[in-house]
Amino acid sequence: MVNGQRLVIWSGEFHPWRIPVPELWIDIIEKIKAAGFNTIALYELWGWHAPNNETLDFSTGAHNYSRVFEEAKRAGVYVIYRPGPYTNAEANGGGFPGWLTTGLHGTLRNDDPRYTAAWERYSGRVAEFVNPYLVTNGGNVIMWQLENEYGNQWLDREELIPNTTAVNYMELLQQKHRSWGIDVPFAANNPNFNTKSWSKDYSDVGGETDVYGLDHYPSCWSCDLSECTAVNGAPEWYTLFDYATHFQEVALTQPSFLPEFQGGSYNPWIGPAEGCRNNTGPPWVNLYYRHNLAQKVTAMNIYMTYGGTNWGNSGYPLSGTSYDYSAPIQENRLIAEKYSEFKLFGLFWRVARDFTKVDRIGNSTDYTTNEAVMATELRNPDTNAAFYVTRHEYSPSTNISHFRLHVRTSVGELTVPRRGRVTLNGVESKVLVTDFSIGSSGKKLVYSTAEILTLADSGDRQVVVLWAPREETGEIMLAGASDWTVRSGNLSAVEQWQDAIVKDTSVVSFSVQSKPLVLDSANGVQLVVVDRETAYGFWAPNLDADPLVWENSIVPVHGPYLVRSASIESSVVNIRADWNTSTTVEVWADVKVSQISVNGIQYESTRTPYGSLICHLPASITTESVQESLPLLTEWKVVDSLPEKFAEYDDSHWTEADHMWTPHPVPPATYPVLFADEYGYQAGNLLWRGRFTGDSGIAAPTAVHLRVIGGAGSGYSVYLNGDFLGAYLGNHTVRDGNVTLSFSNTTIKPGPENVLLVLQDTMGKDQREGALDPRGILNATLISSAGDALDFTSWKVAGNAGGNDLIDPLRGTWNEGGLYAERLGWHLPGFDDNEWESGHPKDGFSGSGVQFYRTKFPLDMPQDHDASLAFELLTDGRAKLRAQLYVNGYQFGKIIPWFGNQIEFPVFPGILDYHGDNTIGLSIWSMSEEHAAVDVRVKALGVHRSALDLSFDSDYLRPGWSDRSQYA
Ligand code: GAL
Repeated sequence: MVNGQRLVIWSGEFHPWRIPVPELWIDIIEKIKAAGFNTIALYELWGWHAPNNETLDFSTGAHNYSRVFEEAKRAGVYVIYRPGPYTNAEANGGGFPGWLTTGLHGTLRNDDPRYTAAWERYSGRVAEFVNPYLVTNGGNVIMWQLENEYGNQWLDREELIPNTTAVNYMELLQQKHRSWGIDVPFAANNPNFNTKSWSKDYSDVGGETDVYGLDHYPSCWSCDLSECTAVNGAPEWYTLFDYATHFQEVALTQPSFLPEFQGGSYNPWIGPAEGCRNNTGPPWVNLYYRHNLAQKVTAMNIYMTYGGTNWGNSGYPLSGTSYDYSAPIQENRLIAEKYSEFKLFGLFWRVARDFTKVDRIGNSTDYTTNEAVMATELRNPDTNAAFYVTRHEYSPSTNISHFRLHVRTSVGELTVPRRGRVTLNGVESKVLVTDFSIGSSGKKLVYSTAEILTLADSGDRQVVVLWAPREETGEIMLAGASDWTVRSGNLSAVEQWQDAIVKDTSVVSFSVQSKPLVLDSANGVQLVVVDRETAYGFWAPNLDADPLVWENSIVPVHGPYLVRSASIESSVVNIRADWNTSTTVEVWADVKVSQISVNGIQYESTRTPYGSLICHLPASITTESVQESLPLLTEWKVVDSLPEKFAEYDDSHWTEADHMWTPHPVPPATYPVLFADEYGYQAGNLLWRGRFTGDSGIAAPTAVHLRVIGGAGSGYSVYLNGDFLGAYLGNHTVRDGNVTLSFSNTTIKPGPENVLLVLQDTMGKDQREGALDPRGILNATLISSAGDALDFTSWKVAGNAGGNDLIDPLRGTWNEGGLYAERLGWHLPGFDDNEWESGHPKDGFSGSGVQFYRTKFPLDMPQDHDASLAFELLTDGRAKLRAQLYVNGYQFGKIIPWFGNQIEFPVFPGILDYHGDNTIGLSIWSMSEEHAAVDVRVKALGVHRSALDLSFDSDYLRPGWSDRSQYA
């Protein structure tokens, strides 16, 4: 309950740091809300804000996320906030900053005072930052998740023997947060059915939170299904789970809360380039979320609703660069097909006010006249409204089944429909209602066998929109409605007759066609019956910013690609909308409204015979014409970016890697310690230079053995005195690579100045305990011809310029690594590459090494339009290279064609200057002597005339180059 109002939480998850343009957060929030959600859930990442143990950045660019909370309030959605300290999220280190994972702060996620001291600084600052946005302080944050999937309450759950360390940790988290003024309910999300942790109904050993939660990904959280087999077994498609029993057992007195329920799946490096949208496609959405209703779930958050990108090095090793998640809103911000199916569900749930208090009455095939079809009855004990969630008992069934349903209504027990039947077409679920309240009008649908899409109540008139697949039939009975008039649509599609049981009440049955049916009842209800395609085009914005969208504030709109909001000013209804093709907009607004304005422009409006208003929008500028206007990127400059391979290279600015002891829980095999975190580097490419003496006669080194750890998929190249010795190309399952490389094809110099260079890339840090795995060299051993192990005399390391003392705090910790080009800032706009040679990356180069390419291009995107652009990085098959794409200084793409499949990288407006010059940087690291080349193309993915304001000044997001020569 919020302020005395019962609420069913229907929440969409998105991560502001995955779309680092604060001005676009409203776009995501509006798209989430438009699908019918009343809440958003936000994760936060400690590592994003704390590049080192002294700095907490809540101010630069997207680090200042206050805007998310303000826009949530403005758009009217509640917020579930999940700031960690530990997050997961397929983020680098699960959100933990690199400096936290060296061992100095213990093994983390427990009550170790060293860890406590560290998270107290971060969480305390977060609490202070978010405090003004709590619902108790006038904001919209209604719930606070502590930790993430920390299902660690029990040493032995059967015997209820608590894990005291974990209990202490949870208690500390709660005490501290309360002392910092966080007074909204605390929630905990359990990773699976078995952990049963932190529920007040289940235990009182300490650490219990206000709200228990269960996360669930019934069809695998990864597009690589083999990642789930170890835990869940392979997903059995369209198999459903029994949450109701689980919540009865573990959290009887609490809302049945799914803090993470599957919205899609992340796509690892080896996943299909386009993701796995069909695994959780429209039928999946249709079935699973209705099933959750049947399970009496009263709060659920869809992970992810908008995924965004793992730009820079912000992902964990397996996760790949895109975090599109095959979610309803795509990484490129375009609406995916399945979004519409979310909307059918969300708009209904939004107006299903009676659902905020229901008992689960029964669950069986006895409810129907077809033994293949079952129903679950949920009934509001106060209003007696009921919801019957129907589906095939065998949920994966692809049969077409017909049935009638036995219902209990205010007029007695009925079997509905009275004429005709309801259809279930394979993987499908339908929620049929009885005694359903039409807003606060007091009017009720005694029953409906077509699903409710939305409704609006303007006092004297109510509009109820129903939908069913085309050619199917539906039947309704409205209390007190004796006579219906067909206002639009095919007359012969409607039948009405007086009910035998209830006097003065008609039953109406209809067959659903592509042309909507509009019927008016004598008692002021307008019924609009549409097919699925038309239903997909409906929107139900509300006139105020109340997340609880009340029927008297809903304005049903049909037509545009997206309707973000609506408002009424005297006789004008203003719709904020996006569209591309020429579109007819139809609005059901109060009778006093006679004009439609869209995005501030009034269009000629006409009234339909049944009272709605219509206007026509001309087509927008097309995606094709924007594509044609895009530059071809023909003029490039190129320069070598691996001078460090030569023995003579001056590394006097580099960090001495000389630790002979490490706090790290797993020490290295050889010393000095070559773990990057210990030397203040935590992202991207690392370069290690080891020196050794070459004139020691028989004991002269003849080979080197290396074990280098960069996380699954990482790789490295090795040079001696400028000569390429070889590379470890990487494998998506292997976190560290062993190689032994012979010096036989190279010359060892007499004296101490033989230099071995290891260039490695790190793929981000692993999650959970894996966050403690170092990044660097576990073993570096020289081998003599006699097979003896010899020592290096010294080591130096270079990572990103400035290391954890960020010199580019705005773009943040994970954006850049330690390549020569990166250290010198060649990826940044404003660097002068005049002296460089011309060279196109598609022509590439031969031989191993790193080359850095730059080009500049202007953009002039059409005003009042929202264009989604992406870059494509194309290579010849499974090339042995790694390439990074920088757009105006942001690393927005990385390819590893050797095993990775992603080639398309969406880039946001704001990162791109849509009305000015843009700078592209591209590093190509060739890991073999073969030819290496990458072609770069700009693509327009979708263009809409839009209410989104892209005219903001984004210059502050693209700080330019300044001299970085001290980092060479
Ligand atoms: C959950 C976790 C999330 C995310 C998800 C998979 O277990 O809580 O942070 O990792 O799995 O995408």
